[in-house]
Amino acid sequence: MAVCPTGAVYISGSYRVHSGFWKNDHLFENGLTFPDPAGKGDSEPAPAEITELTETEKIIYTRRSIRLYQKKQVPAELIRRIIEAGRFAPSAGNNQPWKFIVIQNKELIDEINARCKKALKVHTRLTLPQAWWHKKVPGDKDARFSWWQKALLPLLVKWRPGDTDQRVRGGVNAATSDPDYHIFFHAPTVILQLADRRAIGGVDYDSGICAQNMVLAAHALGLGTCYVGLIDGLKLHAKFRKEVLGVTDPFEIVMALTLGYPQGDINTLVRRERARIAWFS
Ligand SMILES: Cc1cc2nc3c(=O)[nH]c(=O)nc-3n(C[C@H](O)[C@H](O)[C@H](O)COP(=O)(O)O)c2cc1C
Repeated sequence: MAVCPTGAVYISGSYRVHSGFWKNDHLFENGLTFPDPAGKGDSEPAPAEITELTETEKIIYTRRSIRLYQKKQVPAELIRRIIEAGRFAPSAGNNQPWKFIVIQNKELIDEINARCKKALKVHTRLTLPQAWWHKKVPGDKDARFSWWQKALLPLLVKWRPGDTDQRVRGGVNAATSDPDYHIFFHAPTVILQLADRRAIGGVDYDSGICAQNMVLAAHALGLGTCYVGLIDGLKLHAKFRKEVLGVTDPFEIVMALTLGYPQGDINTLVRRERARIAWFS
């Protein structure tokens, strides 16, 4: 909606689920709000208020995931500057469990895209109603769950709920069934973030903080980024990971970030759900 204010892109309906395992709490009940750091309630997007914020807050609120890039390559010195912002992230015990692979080679980016898309088809086969033996796209109206999916899905939902969420199933299906879909959006640079499994006290948290430092630094430098969790597909390509990308144990790829100059300007703030806060005073 920020990109197409005239309504060219619109998702109708709501994600609200009233009962069962997927039941939402108050989230989605009270509507979305623009950033409201002053706690003024339903304030409007308020560009005037935004100008009163610190530079850091402005960078946080105006960052968006960028999926349309110019062809122009990002200079190495800017990439170093962005990684430096990641390097100075806090981590448990200052153990800094990260490593980066910068890829600016179009053929290699395209190959990773193709491999991930191929591997992610396994996900749709496990979690979506199937008609693939008729060469139909999983998710077709006349596709049906097979008996083994009916047996497997309830277990998957409990074991890895995030992987069976409708947004993931729909997203993976869209990405894998559209031959033109590029998981990196043809961005000129992709940075793979690796994590050291030996890390102390929660490597996911450390990795996320490090990546977000990089994302915010990139935005401050006028560059666009997008996290690409679909890089998970590379988990099924062990030989390629090791022999081509040089990823070896105890490191594993935890995230991919696209990087490039955005095409056009996204200058509208995005609304979010209200914060869920328990406040003891
Ligand atoms: C961990 C993580 C994984 C993500 N994976 C993808 C992805 O594979 N593809 C994609 O297009 N966007 C991906 N995103 C971007 C989210 O869709 C996006 O952050 C969210 O919709 C909010 O939009 P915004 O970043 O523009 O504020 C990912 C974001 C995060 C934090």
